[in-house]
Formats: sequence, structure tokens, C-alpha cells
Amino acid sequence: MENIKGKILVIEDEKSMREVLRILLEEEEYNVTSASDGKEGIELIKKDIFDLVITDIKMPKADGFEVLRKVKEISPDTIVIMITAFGTTESAIEAMKQGAYDYINKPFKIDEIRLVVKKALDNKKLSEELLLLREKVQVTFRLENIIGKSAKMQELFKVIPRVAQSSSTVLITGESGSGKELVSAALHNLSPQKNKNFITVNCAAFPEGLLESELFGHMKGSFTGALYNKAGLFEIADGGTIFLDEICEMPLSLQSKLLRVLENGTFRRVGGTSDIKVDVRVISATNRDILEAVSSGTFREDLYYRLNVVPLNLPPLRERKEDIPLLIEHFLSKFSADNKMISPDAMRIFMNNSWKGNVRELENVLERIVLLSDKEIITPQDIPDEIKMAKYDIKSLPDLTDEGLDMEKIIENIEKDYLIKALEKTNGVKIEAAKLLKLSFRSFRHRLSKYGIK
Ligand SMILES: Nc1ncnc2c1ncn2[C@@H]1O[C@H](COP(=O)(O)OP(=O)(O)OP(=O)(O)O)[C@@H](O)[C@H]1O
Ligand SMILES: [Mg+2]
Repeated sequence: MENIKGKILVIEDEKSMREVLRILLEEEEYNVTSASDGKEGIELIKKDIFDLVITDIKMPKADGFEVLRKVKEISPDTIVIMITAFGTTESAIEAMKQGAYDYINKPFKIDEIRLVVKKALDNKKLSEELLLLREKVQVTFRLENIIGKSAKMQELFKVIPRVAQSSSTVLITGESGSGKELVSAALHNLSPQKNKNFITVNCAAFPEGLLESELFGHMKGSFTGALYNKAGLFEIADGGTIFLDEICEMPLSLQSKLLRVLENGTFRRVGGTSDIKVDVRVISATNRDILEAVSSGTFREDLYYRLNVVPLNLPPLRERKEDIPLLIEHFLSKFSADNKMISPDAMRIFMNNSWKGNVRELENVLERIVLLSDKEIITPQDIPDEIKMAKYDIKSLPDLTDEGLDMEKIIENIEKDYLIKALEKTNGVKIEAAKLLKLSFRSFRHRLSKYGIK
């Protein structure tokens, strides 16, 4: 764009009105061209690209509807705002139906024009940025279904295809919802075994005995309820990949059996008498501290080393905030058919949240917002309260031990911190500082004297 604020074409046959619009918009630093009738306007649209066209409806030669049709035909990205004479609501509605962005009633208020134009151009810029982002999501910042532009994710994008080629075991660590299962699927889909089975087993989902027969199969009669011979998931995954999720939850008794499969590829079904040999790529994952499980004796150290030949770690979302806009964009186009956008204010709130539930939480919040809002643009209003009120990180507060603690003192300290922070931010201007903290001036002043802050 030659002019950052936008190029506007004003089409209006009444000279005084045309001039008022031109001067007003030039004051706002838009680049303005004007035409005195529809025909002249259309000629200009053929020769140049405008961000926005404001056109009167009733004009000699070609009317506003003709202009609107031509813009849609020649330059569909250009926004059209119609000026309608007072009391002609039908034509305004008709104009919107035919694709006008908005309309302004004549006589108009100057502020109204300013606002409508600004909003229209802001939205246009937003959707252009989004389009760019969308393209980037498609190519640079995506591996399979994993989205990310942060250095840590880009590093993973380099490592994953390489690791996928090998048959080494991979241990994926990371907080809940950070994308461990997604990475395991990518490892399978990019591997030479991609056409073989990819089996996911959640080790926490089965009671001890059942997990063993689930993984390794059983013979008829080997335990009550074993009515038939049944192949285990390791057999079904033969030639492909098995993903053992929540590996820390695997009981010790089973861990030795798993170790044996990893060492020589053989196991026995529950109640079976002969060894079965398989060739399976094993990927495991945990959101717990597996080393702690090793040192506390609930996880075999030798198994840990066997599983952890290639360690991959997914950083929590709060440590890669630059991924948030891309993820939002990705989920918005996943959940909303009408390609919703997000306002800069709302984006700021998303960026500042701590996302304890990581990408899963972000995904769920966006799904809910899309479901509940029929607006084209998501604003702070649409964001659930628990996210807007960025919570104090309870982990950074003194722990509540058996001795108890002085809660009021702690809360007072937090309050004091915020009062000082707000004053610093506003260079000591109390009225502004009070506003920042959403306090009345009186209440703010009261608190300052309570804590003796000067
Ligand atoms: N980088 C990402 N790009 C796109 N979607 C993602 C990304 N990371 C996670 N997701 C999505 O977030 C959700 C949670 O991811 P996933 O199930 O892989 O997390 P997890 O680490 O396995 O969590 P848990 O420990 O709770 O099992 C899924 O819907 C997944 O598609
Ligand atoms: Mg998972």
C-alpha cells in the first residue's frame, strides 16, 4: 500500500458533500481521490486499486448500485460503503445484500464517517494479515498437523522427520495438552512404516491385569473372562508403530515384559507357552517427571534408558507464546465456517494467559467461543471470564503447609506490588494508575495511604 492508512475513492455528485468528505478523510491522513458521478468513479476503479470506495446511491450517469457491481467485478477486495438519503432504508438493505460493507445515512455526522471508515479499513487489514498468516500456517509453520513458529517448535520440525526414519525408541515428554500424541502420530506418518498400523495405548486406562492382556494378548481360559484367544496390540502393530501413552502408569510387573520386547522383540501372550516375535517401533510419552519415578522406584531404570533413546520434549505453550496467533488462526479456521477473526485486544488477552492446559485448553476455549458467538470478529467480550482475569500463578505463592500462613499479609503484599507497578507505569499520575487497576480514585487513594506509598 502506498499509503499505510489506506486509499479511498469518494464518489458523490453533490460538490459540497464531496468536498466535505474529502477534507474530512484527508485530515485522517487517508489518501483520497474523488469523482463527481458513477461513470467517472468506475473509470478510476478500472485504473487504480482502492482500499475503500464511498459512493452515493443516487447519481446521474451510473448510480451507486452500478458502482458496487463494478467494484465486485473488477476489484473484489475493495470495500464499498454506500451513502443513502434519509428514509431510504430499502436501498440500504439492498446494497448490503449486494455486498456493500456498510451504509451511512445522509445527512451524516462527521464522527460516524470517521468511525465507519476506520472500522472497515481495520477489518480489511486484519483479514489481509490473517490471509498471510493462513498461507504461512500452510507451509512454513506446519509439520503434519503440528503448528508452530517458535524456535523450539521449528527445531522439533527439523528433528521429527529425521527421527521418523529410524527405528529407535522415542520418549516424548511435556505437560498435558502440549501435543505429545500429535508428535507421535507425525513420527509414524513420516516413517517408512506409515502404511502399517499405528496403535495408541493409554497405560493409565487399564487395570493392571487387563493392560497386560491388552498389550500382549491372551489364550482362552488363562484367566476368568478369557473366553477366546486374543491377539495383543503388539501383534496388531507388527511392522508399524505402537504409542504407549502415560508410560509412568505402567505397573512394575509389566515393565519387565516390555523391556524384553524392546531388547529382543519377543513376548508371550498371557497364558501362552511360546514366544512371539514382532517388529514394532515403540514411542512412549509421559507428562510426569519420569526420572522422579525412577528414583522413587516405581519405574525401572533400565527400561527408562531403553525407552529414552531419542528424547523429545514439548515446551509448555506459555514458553512459546509466539505460537499462539498461529494456533488461534488454525483453530478458528478449523471450527468456524465463516472464518472468524480476532481483534487485537482479544489477541492480547490470549497472549497473556498462562495456558496451564496448553494447546488443548486453547483449542477448547476457541471451540466454545466460535460456538457461542455469531459475530465475525472475536472481541474481549467473547472471551470467558476465567481467561480474562489472568489468574495469579498459585505456584509462585508461598505454599500452604501444616503450619498455616498469614493470608491477609500475602494478599496485602500483592496489592502493594500492583499499586506501585501502576504508579510506575503512569509516571505517578494517580488518576491514570487508579484507572489501570479498575479502582475508583477514592479507593486507590485510600489504599496508598493504608500502605504509606508516596
Ligand atoms: N502444535 C500444535 N498444533 C496444532 N494442534 C495442536 C498442537 N499441539 C497440540 N495440539 C492439539 O491440542 C490437543 C492436545 O494435544 P495432544 O493430545 O497431542 O496433547 P498431549 O500432550 O498428548 O496431552 P496429554 O498429556 O493430556 O495426553 C489436540 O487436539 C491436538 O490436536
Ligand atoms: Mg496425550
